[in-house]
Amino acid sequence: MAEGRITRGTTGVNRLRRMDRFIAAHPALRRASDPLIVDLGYGAAHWTALELLERARRVRPDAHVVGIEIDPERVRAAAPFARDGLTFRRGGFEIPLDRDARPAVIRAANVLRQYDEGEVAAAWALMRSRLAPGGLLLEGTCSEVGRVASWVALDPDGPVSLTVALHLGSLDELGGPSVVAERLPKALIHRNVPGEGVHALLRELDAQWARHAPLSAFSPRQRFVAAARGLRDAGWPVRGGAERWRLGELTVAWDAVAPRP
Ligand SMILES: C[S@@+](CC[C@H](N)C(=O)[O-])C[C@H]1O[C@@H](n2cnc3c(N)ncnc32)[C@H](O)[C@@H]1O
Repeated sequence: MAEGRITRGTTGVNRLRRMDRFIAAHPALRRASDPLIVDLGYGAAHWTALELLERARRVRPDAHVVGIEIDPERVRAAAPFARDGLTFRRGGFEIPLDRDARPAVIRAANVLRQYDEGEVAAAWALMRSRLAPGGLLLEGTCSEVGRVASWVALDPDGPVSLTVALHLGSLDELGGPSVVAERLPKALIHRNVPGEGVHALLRELDAQWARHAPLSAFSPRQRFVAAARGLRDAGWPVRGGAERWRLGELTVAWDAVAPRP
């Protein structure tokens, strides 16, 4: 039986590009003995699964993607678009694969968003249990066109980090980095309240963004780099460096934002 339930199938061309980039850079894919990727809940069209394949193949030409959907209609609709390295099948969080294959990467984008917060832990645990050793589960959310996104990265043992990914050119117009509050993964979206780590993180990020406003005269990239550095200097466990910050991507260790029990 497929674990989960059918939800809205909204998707869009290129909207998961930032998650694709994160996956393509990740050792879980680059060093995988079998670079098998699952796009779980690819939605009403096959686009995001195909884009994931194309981006993964730039770094691992032998990468292959299985799109898994719980809605049989959506599996039927995607079937004609199967090709070398890309197949579609029906299933849920249990991730059914041939011969019990274990994926190096599972991406579940905009899937848990339509579940209850209390359902997240079990869904994470089931998906994690399917990963190959050293594998990566990316579970997150984005806006319609992907300008605002966030995701949790998990390994087979549990959550490792939270990443926020923002289109820097529109950030002022959108109200600053905390616009991502509306697009947090389900585990955190109800936790943007005083006393929770994610609330403190977004407040500090907004404060840093405001503090470095004069740098927008040069570029929003320089401003975001300064804000990320400021966050790190303030003691936040920021991962990665300026290369990723310039893209509007900021990753912090999960412990800093894990919801309070
Ligand atoms: C909003 S769409 C997301 C499409 C695509 N991932 C994206 O972000 O553009 C969510 C899809 O997840 C599917 N879904 C929900 N729960 C699922 C589960 N447990 N297993 C597989 N697919 C699931 C729904 O049927 C729906 O098509």
